[in-house]
Amino acid sequence: MGHLKQDSKKSVGIDAIAVHVPRLYVDLSGEWAQARAATFSEGDVAQLVGKVKKGVGVEHMAVPDAHEDSATLAAMAAVKAIQNAGIDPKDIGYVAVGTETTVDQSKSIAAYVLGMIERRFNVQMPDVGAPQFQFACIGATYALEAAVNMFRAEEHTKPYALVIATDVSKYPLLTAGEYTQGAGAVAMLVCENPRLLAIDPKTAATVTRDERDFFRPNGLQTAVVDGKYSIDVYLDCMTLAADRYLERARAAFNKPGARIDELASHLLFHVPFPRMAEYAALRILGDAWRKDSRIKDEIVREVPLITDTNIDKDPKARKAYEKQLADSAFFRHFFATTIEPSLTLSRKIGNIYSGSLYLALASLLESTENRASLAGQRIALLSYGSGASARVFSGTFVDPAHAYIPHAATDLKNEQDGGRRVALSVKDYERLHSGPKSEDSTTPGSLLQPAESLRAPKNEFALTRVGAEQSAQKTDTGYRYYEWMK
Ligand code: CAA
Repeated sequence: MGHLKQDSKKSVGIDAIAVHVPRLYVDLSGEWAQARAATFSEGDVAQLVGKVKKGVGVEHMAVPDAHEDSATLAAMAAVKAIQNAGIDPKDIGYVAVGTETTVDQSKSIAAYVLGMIERRFNVQMPDVGAPQFQFACIGATYALEAAVNMFRAEEHTKPYALVIATDVSKYPLLTAGEYTQGAGAVAMLVCENPRLLAIDPKTAATVTRDERDFFRPNGLQTAVVDGKYSIDVYLDCMTLAADRYLERARAAFNKPGARIDELASHLLFHVPFPRMAEYAALRILGDAWRKDSRIKDEIVREVPLITDTNIDKDPKARKAYEKQLADSAFFRHFFATTIEPSLTLSRKIGNIYSGSLYLALASLLESTENRASLAGQRIALLSYGSGASARVFSGTFVDPAHAYIPHAATDLKNEQDGGRRVALSVKDYERLHSGPKSEDSTTPGSLLQPAESLRAPKNEFALTRVGAEQSAQKTDTGYRYYEWMK
């Protein structure tokens, strides 16, 4: 490690990955469900809990404290990745952050994160590139692509690039988006001959189209979403990108006719909420299986609708087929072994937007007891960002037993069980959701001082104050001051 290699056949990919989530969370089957049942389920608390836990797939959602934002979450994840990998931060030549909830309209959030890394490790890193990539939840995938291609083109000047996905997902209270919120960051070190995941060259496929499924107009703190439509756009774009990936991957691996589930042992999806991964698996594999007689004949006994010739023409026929497939033992077993291990963290954290796909990767690593068994296995990564773009790519695990240090699941333990998590009351959650308040409602929230933290920051980065000076000597109105709090 730590030196520039010149081998033209080298692999490029992810050397280390680390997750950081706020310690505060809302338990969606507790007081929150009591408070929201009148709005969402005509007062029926059990119905709401069933829908959120089973129908949507989330149990808890992470909520940032007043001193946390996308920049502190990113910096915390970055510090963990650097420490877990045991590298010198001065060996990082590129810091790229994917986010759709940045902290400034102009400055790259990566520059704020860089400053925090420099202060934490007491180093100077002046010769790095530090861009921000924004395209809803797919921004970090584009950041990863740029970092990987920099190494492939041998344009890197240092052995590592740092790619971070960070977001705070926020919808208006009392809307159907509310129970799909979350917050967190995932940091990945990218290099040549990576220890964790070698990314396959010449296989990735991207699809983009101008869409209105989900967006956040300037000035709004919460997303505007057309929920059901956003699911349709996700499925359409993802299916197209998966088809194109398959064409390239079959050629690259010399496996004509192979299905995606034959090329990859695990399928990792962008997870806005865990059921979405199931909808996507049903669409992509449901199509692959019904078009392949080698497997169709095995499934038809349990799923007779697999032979329905109207599926491509009639959305109702497709829905009926996917429902029957979803209930089959064949699909349940496939899902439990191939996809469920990548969803366990998301069930406890919620949507972290640009980091959700990479949280799925961490989740697979956390929930696989024998991580060494993953070595040599190929995984497919299916990324999606509203607005809308999908990118499907794949990679092969190298030495996951040594390259991944489990920490994410332990971070989710409650304080009383020796962990750091703290459950929020609805009152505190709503206060944090609304952000800092001013007397004068015309002042934008970004110029206000952070509200009082629920838990004083400890051993973490915190937004300590927002600049308010405008004088001949110094202007820092709205500049965000971050400090490491002991
Ligand atoms: N027990 C079990 N299941 C139940 C239930 C109960 N008591 N009550 C309802 N359900 C089931 C429903 O049958 C349904 O399942 P099926 O689809 O299998 O029928 C499921 O729960 C969801 O219920 P609804 O259809 O009533 O959906 P909803 O009104 O709760 O809305 C949502 C769900 C559209 C996802 C909404 O939460 C939302 O708008 N979220 C934000 C947008 C989003 O995440 N979009 C995803 C694609 S876009 C993207 O991926 C980018 C991104 O990150 C935002």
